[in-house]
Amino acid sequence: MSSEAEQFGSALIEPARKKCVRMAVVGLGHWGKNVLRSFATADGCDVRAICDDKPELLARYASLYPSARSTGSFQSVIDDPHTDAVAIVTPAPLHHEMVTRALSAGKHVFVEKPASLTVAHAQEMVELADRMHRKLMVGHLLEYHPAVAAMKEQIDGGHLGDVHYMYSQRLNLGIVRQSENAFWSLAPHDISVILYLFGSEPDEVSASGASFLQNGIEDVVFANLHFPDGRIAQIHVSWLDPHKARKMVVVGSKKMMVFDDMHPSEKIRIFDKGANVADDANSPLHSITVRHGDIHLPHIDGRPPLDIETAHFVDCILNDRRPRSDGHDGLHVVRVLEQVEQYLHRPKVTQVRMPAKMFVTPQPRAAVLQDMETLPQL
Ligand SMILES: NC(=O)c1ccc[n+]([C@@H]2O[C@H](COP(=O)([O-])OP(=O)(O)OC[C@H]3O[C@@H](n4cnc5c(N)ncnc54)[C@H](O)[C@@H]3O)[C@@H](O)[C@H]2O)c1
Repeated sequence: MSSEAEQFGSALIEPARKKCVRMAVVGLGHWGKNVLRSFATADGCDVRAICDDKPELLARYASLYPSARSTGSFQSVIDDPHTDAVAIVTPAPLHHEMVTRALSAGKHVFVEKPASLTVAHAQEMVELADRMHRKLMVGHLLEYHPAVAAMKEQIDGGHLGDVHYMYSQRLNLGIVRQSENAFWSLAPHDISVILYLFGSEPDEVSASGASFLQNGIEDVVFANLHFPDGRIAQIHVSWLDPHKARKMVVVGSKKMMVFDDMHPSEKIRIFDKGANVADDANSPLHSITVRHGDIHLPHIDGRPPLDIETAHFVDCILNDRRPRSDGHDGLHVVRVLEQVEQYLHRPKVTQVRMPAKMFVTPQPRAAVLQDMETLPQL
């Protein structure tokens, strides 16, 4: 041993012990396996336990992650004093109960979207996390997408001018869920991005949707959000569509921006397009001209959003930071989901019916010509 090491003890020759979050991942289904892989490779994170109540899934991931304890019991995960944080990637109807139990056991919690199925439950979870001084983060993945960060920069930097409106489309054929409609399944992403980009919550919502495959479970929904400053947003989601689309369009007074998540490289396009309104001194009318300018393709970091998201959760625990998509963010999203749900299932007293004559079956062409012959000549 060197004289320095003798003098100062082993601390000098051993690297300082790195701070580390001891993590458990619960739910290893379609999405959980990705969350597990991402936490397992995150810096400062050690996946100590994996949990699923399907023994065959558990066995598969136990062989891939041999250093993690595998269990089918959620209770044993939250009872383990060597676990700091739990990722809950189970179906949405289980979120409230599992999050509540994990927070009550003193764990930090990452829960997949939607945070819960009711505003009351989301509110309870936020309050419990605050009381327990634990982090609660909701998996609003797109808030961690580098393209969304670029959109936020463009909007907040004023490059688009005043943002007038935006719309989003999240369409595909499948996955058809049985415990929630397409809006609860797909729209949390769109809602979280819209609230993040606009920096506010809507004051009015309306929607239309329809169920074709399962009674009472909408396969397609069009939702309209109105914001207090007059901006509007529309969300179109469907799991019964021929296209796979994940697109957002933002229209500003100076420029327009498109985020196409299906495009392999050109995720964001900024169009120098718009319409100018000029007052004409000699006329009470305005003159409106449209402008077609260049298209700009900003460079977008290719890092997977899930890796940015899981790294952010670990960083928030290690450095006592507030998660970007914390429980409050989850609550705001659930509030919109619940309002849209209530609108879809409201008593249809205010429905506007089309005038009956709009539905008259067209007469055959010969009959129309005959009728015309009988018209009085002008
Ligand atoms: N962020 C995203 O992009 C994204 C994508 C897909 C799904 N999700 C969300 O992830 C969550 C899970 O979705 P999924 O598609 O992976 O569902 P899934 O049904 O494929 O997987 C859920 C898993 O949870 C397990 N499970 C259920 N109850 C359990 C319990 N009590 N204890 C332990 N394990 C239990 C099931 O056995 C199953 O393996 C949902 O909230 C969904 O909305 C998020």
